Amino acid sequence: MAKPIYIKTAEEIEKMRAACDLVSRTLGEVARWAKPGVTTLRLDTVAREYILDNGGLPTCLGYQGFPGTLCIEVNETVVHGFPSGYVLRDGDIVGTDCVVTLNGYHGDSCYTFVIGEVDEKTAGLLKTTKESLYVGIEAARAGHRIGDISNAIQTYCEHRGYSVVREMCGHGIGRSMHEEPEVPNFGRKGIGPMMKPGMCIAIEPMINLGSKNIVIERDGWQCHTRDRKPSAHYEHTVLITDGQAEILTTFKYIEEALGSRPGQEADTNTTE
Ligand code: MF3
Ligand code: CO
Repeated sequence: MAKPIYIKTAEEIEKMRAACDLVSRTLGEVARWAKPGVTTLRLDTVAREYILDNGGLPTCLGYQGFPGTLCIEVNETVVHGFPSGYVLRDGDIVGTDCVVTLNGYHGDSCYTFVIGEVDEKTAGLLKTTKESLYVGIEAARAGHRIGDISNAIQTYCEHRGYSVVREMCGHGIGRSMHEEPEVPNFGRKGIGPMMKPGMCIAIEPMINLGSKNIVIERDGWQCHTRDRKPSAHYEHTVLITDGQAEILTTFKYIEEALGSRPGQEADTNTTE
């Protein structure tokens, strides 16, 4: 039998809101540290301590043996990179993907940070990937199907010359970090499960500058682009409603942190 897609009660939605606020604030803390000279292990420690100090649990830490609170995605790393002694340097990009558990519910979000200044091609990749997240969210409505989100993201990115990673997907989220349905970032309109009010899903485009192909390393986790060109990743947890989907996570804490950092400007894309 197919696994169910859960419809959250009002009480559960409040818990989702709280978990999503905590993961959003956590990435806001990480944003203060995402700069040249800082190790990715430092980013991970900042996230873990913030989550624990605020009554949450770092969901990824120990999940099937994963060694971090954050998935660290430097340059060509697509997903599931390990925190390490790697020192971030000018021109890098680093995605930090974070999941928290709070009162039994999960919030999931990812943001790709610019370290110092990046080249124009990489900046373009980040801009399009972030925009594609909001384009996908726009398609997430009751009565629409999951394929409508997938198709919207794929079309937006491919028309701009980027490629969509096939092996990794967004997902339902709630009592578990990964629930039904799968939310691919490519596919046909009008296919897949129908969305209903009360569903919660994590939408997370993973978009490459070069080809779509990826390699999973021998550790079974870390994943990089086959051509070693950069990959970008942004993620929000959203609630399906009768109208526009409600975005439960937010980048506002990140953008506040980046905006207040001397010599760094928050990017000026859609903020939510
Ligand atoms: N945000 C990732 C996801 O959406 C988190 C999973 S990483 C793991 O699937 F380490 F927990 F596996
Ligand atoms: Co996710």
